[in-house]
Amino acid sequence: MTLLSEISIRQFKNHQEALLQFGSKLNCFTGKNGMGKTNILDAIHYLCQGKSYFNSTDKELILHTKDQFKLKGIFKNLEEKHQVECHFQQGKRKSLSKDGIKYNKLSEHLGQFPCVMLCPDDNILINGHSDERRRFLDSMIAQIDKSYVNTLSNYNKVLMQRNSLLKQFYKRNYFDKSELEVWDKQIVESGNILHAKRKSIIKELSALFEFYYQKLSNNAEQVSIDYKSQLNEQDFQDALSKSTEKDKILQRTNVGIHKDDLVFNINSYPVRRFGSQGQQKSFLAALKFAQCALTLKHTGKKSILLLDDLFDKLDKNRTECIINLITSDDTFDQVFITDTSYENLSLSLESSDMPLKHFEVGNSSISY
Ligand SMILES: Nc1ncnc2c1ncn2[C@@H]1O[C@H](COP(=O)(O)OP(=O)(O)OP(=O)(O)O)[C@@H](O)[C@H]1O
Ligand SMILES: [Mg+2]
Repeated sequence: MTLLSEISIRQFKNHQEALLQFGSKLNCFTGKNGMGKTNILDAIHYLCQGKSYFNSTDKELILHTKDQFKLKGIFKNLEEKHQVECHFQQGKRKSLSKDGIKYNKLSEHLGQFPCVMLCPDDNILINGHSDERRRFLDSMIAQIDKSYVNTLSNYNKVLMQRNSLLKQFYKRNYFDKSELEVWDKQIVESGNILHAKRKSIIKELSALFEFYYQKLSNNAEQVSIDYKSQLNEQDFQDALSKSTEKDKILQRTNVGIHKDDLVFNINSYPVRRFGSQGQQKSFLAALKFAQCALTLKHTGKKSILLLDDLFDKLDKNRTECIINLITSDDTFDQVFITDTSYENLSLSLESSDMPLKHFEVGNSSISY
């Protein structure tokens, strides 16, 4: 197991400067609203995955009025110690390095120090558009399968080129089937690989997810995750051919894995419409726990678990179930939790005797 033993943060979001040493199991950040608890989790996420969890541009992450940020993390296990550094200066290319050696591509870093975040914004996975769920899926698979990232980026490039050709045809009022077929061949090839990968991963994920949901809800309700894809029942090449007329009119590709979605149900009804706030939160927690288990299964690595405002909206029973799970399930090692109140947090953690390191995040300092 690899732990993040130390982080140094400079001019990242609202943090001017901080050096934090972490414990090997539970680390808790408490403090008032807006003090920067979530931002610390995001800094950890950045070091693990080379980017912010929140889809922010690197420029937005720089402390206001400054022109650069720096993050440094020390990851340790029994045999090894690695230093990951990230530096971004406005107007320049960001640099990400491990042990002093710069990566050429971000994808080289992915999966080495897996981390999984659960935060209130994740509700968008339930309520948002399908591209949010595809983004989750892709980022999950990216941490366990390097070739997936390359195939996906290839697919997206070909898709863009195919779409731009369709636009050209429309503009010039002509059509050449053979020109389109050049792209079809390539999109089918990578699309089929991605579809097969997604299908098998979602099958595994969904079994793990159901297991965790039952654990944390005490078998209160039935839940499911299903893979929705046009390619589940149709051959990609056939579907593309059938869709040519529609593609010509709409000037874009209407079939493919870029239309995939995940279907989230609770007692056979959509979670979006029929899940209470606590049930939705449980749903997302189980999803992220399943992601940790899946990552462990495929890579042998335990993910750093980042739980932002974990206890918000959950009742006492579910809170206890989650604490039991985090502390007893072998899937989890190092966990970071935030809460606005230390009193509430310690009450929630009362039943566990896990070693805990507490950080109070205040206006101009972080103390422990
Ligand atoms: N680039 C930036 N420069 C300066 N401040 C920033 C930057 N990005 C975000 N912030 C500030 O960081 C603060 C939010 O921090 P964060 O979301 O981590 O708070 P929090 O402690 O998690 O609060 P809550 O309890 O409400 O979740 C906000 O006041 C926001 O304006
Ligand atoms: Mg927060």
